[in-house]
Amino acid sequence: MCGIVGYVGGQEAREVLIDGLKRLEYRGYDSAGLALGSGKDLLIIKEVGKVEDLERMLQKVPAGYHQGIGHTRWATHGGVSQANAHPHKDGKGQFALVHNGIIENFSELREELERKGVVFLSETDTEAIVHLVATSFSRTGDILETLVYLQKRLRGTFALALMQQGLPDRIYTIRRGSPLVLGSGNGEAFCASDIPAFLPYTRRIQYPEEGDIAEISPGGIRIWDEKGRPVERSVVTVDWDVSMTEKSGFSHYMLKEIHEQGTVLRRSLKGRVVDGKTMISGELGWNVEMVSKWKKVHIVACGSSYYSALVAERLLEKWTDLEIKVDIASEYRYRHVACDPTTLAVFVSQSGETADTLAALRKARAAGAHCLAITNVRGSTLAREVHSVLLLKAGPEIGVAATKSFTGQLAALFLVALQLGSMRGILAPHEEERLVNELIRIPYKVELLLEKDGEIKEIARKYAQNKNMLFIGRGMSFPVAQEGALKLKEVSYIHAEALAAGEMKHGPIALLEPGVPVLAVIPKDSLYEKTLSNIQEIKARNASLIAVCTEGDRFVPEQAGSVIETPWTDEEFTPFLSVIPLQLLSFHIALILGREIDQPRNLAKSVTVE
Ligand code: F6R
Repeated sequence: MCGIVGYVGGQEAREVLIDGLKRLEYRGYDSAGLALGSGKDLLIIKEVGKVEDLERMLQKVPAGYHQGIGHTRWATHGGVSQANAHPHKDGKGQFALVHNGIIENFSELREELERKGVVFLSETDTEAIVHLVATSFSRTGDILETLVYLQKRLRGTFALALMQQGLPDRIYTIRRGSPLVLGSGNGEAFCASDIPAFLPYTRRIQYPEEGDIAEISPGGIRIWDEKGRPVERSVVTVDWDVSMTEKSGFSHYMLKEIHEQGTVLRRSLKGRVVDGKTMISGELGWNVEMVSKWKKVHIVACGSSYYSALVAERLLEKWTDLEIKVDIASEYRYRHVACDPTTLAVFVSQSGETADTLAALRKARAAGAHCLAITNVRGSTLAREVHSVLLLKAGPEIGVAATKSFTGQLAALFLVALQLGSMRGILAPHEEERLVNELIRIPYKVELLLEKDGEIKEIARKYAQNKNMLFIGRGMSFPVAQEGALKLKEVSYIHAEALAAGEMKHGPIALLEPGVPVLAVIPKDSLYEKTLSNIQEIKARNASLIAVCTEGDRFVPEQAGSVIETPWTDEEFTPFLSVIPLQLLSFHIALILGREIDQPRNLAKSVTVE
């Protein structure tokens, strides 16, 4: 979705802004632009295309602009055009504004402004905001009053950054429903949709709350609530460093992030399991009395995060006595689910900003559920609106396709399931100890598996030209098959479908023909023999088969044209390992096909609109 960055300070603003926009490219966009202020003039440069195109256009602009706002646009209202790109300005060119989000009452506002003689130059909802700012400011002459008024008039979600001609050391922001972070350095200040945008310059962050108005200036950051009352928001120093946002010698972020998974898992478990016991109740603020009141667990998420939740569903069924329901956030938010104070509602989201997941959270919270966020972003909207948070320790994920956040989520959900099982007295201490002991071995096994990158690249060559692929798995391996199919679709654009292996003969088996390979996720687990017979049915129809199986398996390799072996682990842990070859296979197929792997077409990293 759209990305925003703003800067005021001693550096050349365009350099900081272009750098910031490049770091936000992962969000997906179709046009880019920036506004620069020097005190004398307010310059707007914007174009359809890449940030590099914008950078070339800026070469003609002289130095001396120390204030600016930048934007990458992902079209919602109005097509992809130069006129619709941000920043937008008012009729007199006094204000420039960038926006991420959607203004729901924009048609109404546009009509009202047009009746007053305002001329619109674009089809965007954003332009209505900047005209509203200008008309209100001409009445009041007070920017804070204008921004308070703006909040009353706008319906929908927005993160805005605004600058005014002749005010070269101030940028104003408002955040409601869309992500925005503020950063302060020495004699300079920043705002952005996401921390990596200004991570090379500062790690001192403030997270504005819903409705907050901020003034960022070289002297510091001042914040007011939506009514214009001054408020304090704590400054947090993030432990991400800039190398985490770079490719570090890898050709793509996706590949780098796949290879980081051993480290991510180690970081995620550190201090959270001690001497065979799960130790996250303190972090979550849970006690036995509270946990024993819960009767149900709802887990809600989208995309890959939903697939990690499906793995957790199977663990919770085994290790707790709770009634478990897992749903896609865009469905859950509109269903008549029985959610009440006896419900633990878990929201899984890498970004913590997914609009549907946030809506589902607000619904569960209003129904009295205890809400837990599993997210990678401290200070994200999700993290701020729940009762408890378990942070992934994945570091920034830049590739649009989720990889390390998926395994990070698996680890976090494992810990939650273990903690619930032991606190409710269902999971016996010796069983917990066995599970924890295997859990801490998983990072090493993941790293062993990553050494098979070359082997998987060879397999990718055999299948890259197919137009369709089916993924099958049972039990814990079904969500893994779903995640594998999603990865392939996203980065290679090959049509892929995942099926519970036992469902094949209820219809999908009709799809089998040459050119439709089947990838079977078949670790040595309690359902191994069942999946093996499904594989035989597939082979009997001459389909080509790729198998992800456990090392030492004697039967599967006899059936499959290509085999990727994973180290042995207990059934519960197989998703951590089986998913790795699927990520690598998708990556290599996409590479062979010349796809834009880190920013696949039509996709955005963080889906902040419904
Ligand atoms: C898939 C992918 C998406 C996200 C989904 C939810 O590779 O990245 O399916 O998993 O958009 O995003 P979060 O986890 O940020 O809520």
